[in-house]
Amino acid sequence: MIALGSDHAGFGLKKIIEKYLVDLGYEVKDYGTLVEQRCDYPIFAYKVGRAVASGEAQKGLLFCGTGVGMAIAANKIKGVRCVCCAEPYSARLSRMHNDTNILSMGSRVVGDELAKMIVDEWLKASFEGGRHANRVALFTEIEENRDPAEKKWE
Ligand code: RB5
Repeated sequence: MIALGSDHAGFGLKKIIEKYLVDLGYEVKDYGTLVEQRCDYPIFAYKVGRAVASGEAQKGLLFCGTGVGMAIAANKIKGVRCVCCAEPYSARLSRMHNDTNILSMGSRVVGDELAKMIVDEWLKASFEGGRHANRVALFTEIEENRDPAEKKWE
């Protein structure tokens, strides 16, 4: 299942992508906002982030005006690796190299068709592992506030 979330600014694009994914056969769940009234995006970043981090959802998509605030909020949750993207190349590479589990986009930045292309690239790409696996493991060490093993960064 793919978890979807937005604030008021991202609501319209979220609904367009929701229909797009349902038509393609994906299972999706909208974690809000469910109305277009002004609201605070961190709440919905949190709901989607928790759904992904807990395993309730396999991936998440977030939408706000720029995609930036959603990504900052989602990345505060342990286990979340959220990319804010406005083009397909970074979306694809963020899966292949960084194992991102949430994609955030800005409805005031990308058009509907570009957003669909970004989502396509992101969903069909897989994590390559290999040399990237240790780097992703280091995200977790930083997140857990541990000293990275055998590394002196200072
Ligand atoms: C809302 O006006 C806007 O600040 C929000 O959607 C988002 O762009 C924040 O990063």
